[in-house]
Amino acid sequence: MREQKGITIKSAADVEKMDVAGRIVEDTLNLLSKAATAGMSTAELDEIAVEFMKSRGAEASFLDYNGYPKSICTSVNEQVVHGIPGKYRLKDGDILSLDVGAYIGGFHGDAARTVLIGTVPEEVQQLVRVTKECFFEGIRCAKPGYRISDIAKAVQKHAESHGYGVVRELVGHGIGRQMHEDPEVPNYWDDSRFGRGVRLEAGMTIAVEPMINMGTARVYQLDDGWTVVTADGKPSAHYENTVLITEGEPRLLTLHEGANA
Ligand code: MF3
Ligand code: CO
Repeated sequence: MREQKGITIKSAADVEKMDVAGRIVEDTLNLLSKAATAGMSTAELDEIAVEFMKSRGAEASFLDYNGYPKSICTSVNEQVVHGIPGKYRLKDGDILSLDVGAYIGGFHGDAARTVLIGTVPEEVQQLVRVTKECFFEGIRCAKPGYRISDIAKAVQKHAESHGYGVVRELVGHGIGRQMHEDPEVPNYWDDSRFGRGVRLEAGMTIAVEPMINMGTARVYQLDDGWTVVTADGKPSAHYENTVLITEGEPRLLTLHEGANA
C-alpha cells in the first residue's frame, strides 16, 4: 500500500545525519507531550510542531506527503493513526497519539508517542503502557542474526497476551533518505503467507511502530481519506522510534533521553 524504495544500508556519516533528524523528532515530541493538555486544539499542536521544527532548520516529513494536509498526525482515542490536526480540543480522559517526522540534511526521522490527557481510566493507561512495551519487546530482536519476522512476532505476542488487537493494515518501514523505504515492518506475522522475512543487517534503519487496539484488530479509514479508526470504537495506542541496526544492541535515533521514553 506504500511506495517502497529498496533496503538501504547507512554509512556512519548517514547515521549521524539521521541522528540529527531523530533528535529533532524527539525534542518535538517532548514539547508536544507537555503542551497537550485539556482545552488545547490539535491544530494548535500542529502549529507548535511546525514552528519548533523550523527553528531547528528541519522540515516536517509529513506535510504534502501523498497530499497529507498537515505537519504532524494527532490521533485521539479510537483514532489509530493519521489523525489530521484540526478544531478538536483535547479533553480530560483522552489519549492522544502524536506522530512526528522531520527532514533535515537529506534524511528523515520518524517517531510516535501516545500521551494521557488528565485522568485516564486505568484500563486505557494499561493499553498505552503495553503498546510501548510491545516496541521494546520487538526491538530485542532488532539485531543481526534475527529477521523482521522476529520483531513482528515479539510485538504480536506481547499485545495478544493482554487480549489486545494488533493492527494489520498498517506497518512500520525502512527509513532514510525516503520516509518509507523497504523493508515493511509488520506488527504481526504469518509464516505461511510471508515466509521468514528479511534478515537484519548492521546499517539498516527501520521505524518500528506497534499500533495496538484495546478491542478488535479491525480498522477502517474515515472519509477524510486519512484518519484510521478502530472498527469497534475502542481506544488504540501507537508508539514508534527510528531504530538503527548495529552489530550489538539497536540504537534508537529518536530516543536519547530514557526518562522521556
Ligand atoms: N509516521 C507515519 C508513518 O510511518 C505517518 C506518515 S503518514 C503522513 O507512516 F501522511 F502523515 F505522512
Ligand atoms: Co512511521
